[in-house]
Amino acid sequence: MAKRILEPNTTLYPVAVVLVTTGGDKPNVFTCNRIASVSAEPPRLAIAVRPNRYSHALLRASREFVVNLPTPAQQTLSDFVGVVTGREEDKIATAKLKLEPATKIKTPLLADCPVNIECSVERAIELDSHTLFIGLVQAVHAEENLLDANGDVDVARAHGLVYACGTVRERPTAKINTDDLRRMMKGE
Ligand SMILES: Cc1cc2nc3c(=O)[nH]c(=O)nc-3n(C[C@H](O)[C@H](O)[C@H](O)COP(=O)(O)O)c2cc1C
Repeated sequence: MAKRILEPNTTLYPVAVVLVTTGGDKPNVFTCNRIASVSAEPPRLAIAVRPNRYSHALLRASREFVVNLPTPAQQTLSDFVGVVTGREEDKIATAKLKLEPATKIKTPLLADCPVNIECSVERAIELDSHTLFIGLVQAVHAEENLLDANGDVDVARAHGLVYACGTVRERPTAKINTDDLRRMMKGE
């Protein structure tokens, strides 16, 4: 098969899409697909965030975040918190998200996500369009039914990935109307 040379981008497959809470005791949530596992001993996750996001300021100030893994049933939620900014709206209130206290940091977990990973920001690296926040993993919460025989999390067991294969762009896969999303979140 002939190949085409495309403009440089970050095409990968699959792409994880996660919901990141940050901000300590005044939390906000946003959707993030620029996330990577970057070390094992100790475990670190890195997220890349544009400076104009409200979460960027919260990450700088609180120096902590939680990576919450959404289920396919949470796609509308992932769209909503990925297009609306916490600077203008309390997304946690609109979406009636249940929060749970973390064990090692102040930023709460999203109770309805089956896996939550508490991280403290170790360093931040400027990468032109984004800041890469390197997070030291402090604790992992996982629903018991997701654990395999080795005690490791196997997300595919119960839920699979939100957005199926993910997206290389920082936006929902479908063309989406923000007001419709808000109405769905409010259950209207
Ligand atoms: C699927 C998806 C993936 C996204 N990934 C990122 C990302 O990796 N980094 C980023 O800065 N924004 C990303 N965004 C955009 C933010 O989630 C969006 O701008 C959000 O409204 C920011 O919220 P905040 O201003 O409350 O922080 C993504 C959005 C979607 C829908």
